[in-house]
Amino acid sequence: MPRPFFNFRESCATVPISAMMAHGQHISPLTNLSDGAVHVWAWDAARMESAERLSNILSLEERCRAARFRQTIHRRDYAVAHVNMRLILGRYLGVPPENVRYISTASGKPQVVLGSANTPIQFSLSHTQAIGFLAISHGAEIGIDTEFVRPISRTLASVCFSPYELAQLEALGNHSWLEGFYRCWTCKEAVLKGEGTGLTLPLDSFDIDFTSRARPYVAGSTLPIASLFRWHLFPLGLMSCVVTSLAVSTYPNNISLFRLIA
Ligand SMILES: CC(C)(COP(=O)(O)OP(=O)(O)OC[C@H]1O[C@@H](n2cnc3c(N)ncnc32)[C@H](O)[C@@H]1OP(=O)(O)O)[C@@H](O)C(=O)NCCC(=O)NCCS
Repeated sequence: MPRPFFNFRESCATVPISAMMAHGQHISPLTNLSDGAVHVWAWDAARMESAERLSNILSLEERCRAARFRQTIHRRDYAVAHVNMRLILGRYLGVPPENVRYISTASGKPQVVLGSANTPIQFSLSHTQAIGFLAISHGAEIGIDTEFVRPISRTLASVCFSPYELAQLEALGNHSWLEGFYRCWTCKEAVLKGEGTGLTLPLDSFDIDFTSRARPYVAGSTLPIASLFRWHLFPLGLMSCVVTSLAVSTYPNNISLFRLIA
């Protein structure tokens, strides 16, 4: 298996949440997201009580969604993810976090709206248990997916993956099978989130090659959807409990990693 392309432990900048809250008269967009650049933010909701306390910046719809989670821990993870998303997007857009507006397409892909105009800023959110990721780009379309690593039945792979992908998994052998499963899965979901279709497009309708080159790529599809082949895939490493993959529609000239902390 190729190693993750970027490893957060080695190359991420740490940003305290207090730095994201300097709004009011000090609003200023982060200016270093140039055209073609991608920023990826990560956090651990279990260590972010300060974000949890900011739930009042969530929209009514977000608060209603949060309230629907039966388990406190799921409610917390969702609320922290959306608070962080608002804090971060607010800094890029130059607006207070509570004024960040996004709407979802018919298939569910959220997109930022700035006043009446659209902005070139694209984003993708993924959270699994307490771990959250927000990928932001200027111009390029983007999708990110992260999954908590837990044992998986091989039957699930046979139902979700294409024959091309199953052959790669089998060739990996027992030792790397689980890692291969999650790498393939997160690449597929990152592509589907970038496309904006989510799981409305069958998972086995396109092939990810996740073993033969340094980076995974879309190797084939049973669907006549040319856009599936435009994705540049980047496996990201953060910690051993999650596998994360990023899809960007045009090759990024720079990917910067940030870790948001309490
Ligand atoms: C999008 C999807 C692949 C997410 O996968 P997941 O691993 O369960 O969850 P993740 O944490 O990685 O991603 C969730 C985030 O993806 C985003 N998202 C949701 N739908 C999306 C879509 N179609 N395209 C891109 N991003 C989407 C949201 O920001 C969401 O965050 P939220 O639930 O906190 O609001 C999956 O939920 C899906 O396909 N859902 C079905 C979409 C659908 O059927 N829509 C029908 C019309 S609404």
